[in-house]
Amino acid sequence: MLNIALFGPPGAGKGTQSQFLIEKYKLFYISTGDLLRKEIAEKSRLGLEAQNIIASGGLVPDEIIVQIIEKTITENPDANGFLFDGFPRTYIQAYILDGLMIKLNTSLDCLISLEVPEEVSVKRLLERGATSGRSDDNEKVIRNRLKEYSDKTLPVLNYYQDKGIYHGIDGTESIEKVSLKIGEIIKEELSKSLLNIVLFGYPGSGRGSQGIALAKKFGLEYVATGPMLEHEIRENTEMGKKIIDLYESGNLVPDEIVVQLIEKKLANSKDVKGFIFKGFPRTLVQSYILDGLLRKHGTSISEVIEIEVPTLELIKRLDARSKTDRCMPYDTSTSKIVKRLQEHESKTVPVIEKYNQLHRVVKVDGVGDFEKVFARISSHLESKFKNIG
Ligand code: AP5
Ligand code: MG
Repeated sequence: MLNIALFGPPGAGKGTQSQFLIEKYKLFYISTGDLLRKEIAEKSRLGLEAQNIIASGGLVPDEIIVQIIEKTITENPDANGFLFDGFPRTYIQAYILDGLMIKLNTSLDCLISLEVPEEVSVKRLLERGATSGRSDDNEKVIRNRLKEYSDKTLPVLNYYQDKGIYHGIDGTESIEKVSLKIGEIIKEELSKSLLNIVLFGYPGSGRGSQGIALAKKFGLEYVATGPMLEHEIRENTEMGKKIIDLYESGNLVPDEIVVQLIEKKLANSKDVKGFIFKGFPRTLVQSYILDGLLRKHGTSISEVIEIEVPTLELIKRLDARSKTDRCMPYDTSTSKIVKRLQEHESKTVPVIEKYNQLHRVVKVDGVGDFEKVFARISSHLESKFKNIG
């Protein structure tokens, strides 16, 4: 997800630059000014409350803003990212935005401030006023909007300066030059952000081999709890011994063990483009742990993919594998295989449902040979994340 806020006084060019940004990055556009004007046109309760305030150039109460913005964000949880125009405009709104982003398990990547002197704002808005039909595009109201901006909105910049995500741009340059500068800032931001994929699928769906191949293709770090656990077994560590007992009784390894391993992996992976998680999170508890671990590293989940394969086909595949030398210690018999499938059904399916509500899980058909399935997943990732590869 890429979340950007455009900041600046009235007439700075926020609306103008938004057009270019929405197209280029396929962001979901949220302009509180437009949303309020829509409410006014519809004569809704919120619109009626806001109408006179807007006409006089004052700021609409945060209580109204939080209602319209929350509704818009939560109705679009599967957006590629959000572009905020004219929000946040007060300190309170900055906190509201943080809260909403946390709810979607994401964060604001950058706040771009278009800086123009007052007289430029006034001149531009008076020109726009000739055709805009906006009740607030006349000199008296423009001056009041500018005063509100410098009194209440400008101080909000400190909040973002402290967070280290503020970028100021000279907004008096031509529209094209301003667009170019914004593009550069976002490019830099995108190169910093990690691509984190969670790969789901029943045992036997091919998620392991797909995960390894995807990690290789896109330069991601493959994080699979299975191999990490096996490593402990091979090294015959204390942890490894405990794990063997659990495997043999067909149970899941407790979170305390898994968390330590993942934590170590994240901490030791420097200069990677992102992570691909396979076989984790397996339980709701683990899904919260993963959110916390990623947040600690200043990042979050970018995409959740589920490889779908019908149950009968899964059993066939696992049974066939158990008769080869690729047999895993946890599927040496049909009853163990069935137990694992049941475990997935009862513990992991609720996790997928949770992610479905938050991120919309992308379902990929896992039937067909390896290359076909690989091509399906790769092309989805390439079309969604233009900066990978
Ligand atoms: P809102 O609709 O957000 O208006 P605003 O902040 O006053 O900003 P404008 O839309 O006037 O300017 P803009 O920066 O988008 O500039 P534009 O691209 O159009 O808010 C309206 C009201 O709603 C507020 O006063 C408040 O009451 C209420 N409100 C909204 N959000 C709120 C919130 N979060 N909390 C509380 N109240 C809220 O460009 C302007 C003109 O300049 C155009 O004609 C354009 O063609 C031209 N132009 C743009 N860039 C350039 C350039 N580089 N060179 C030359 N000309 C340019
Ligand atoms: Mg605007």
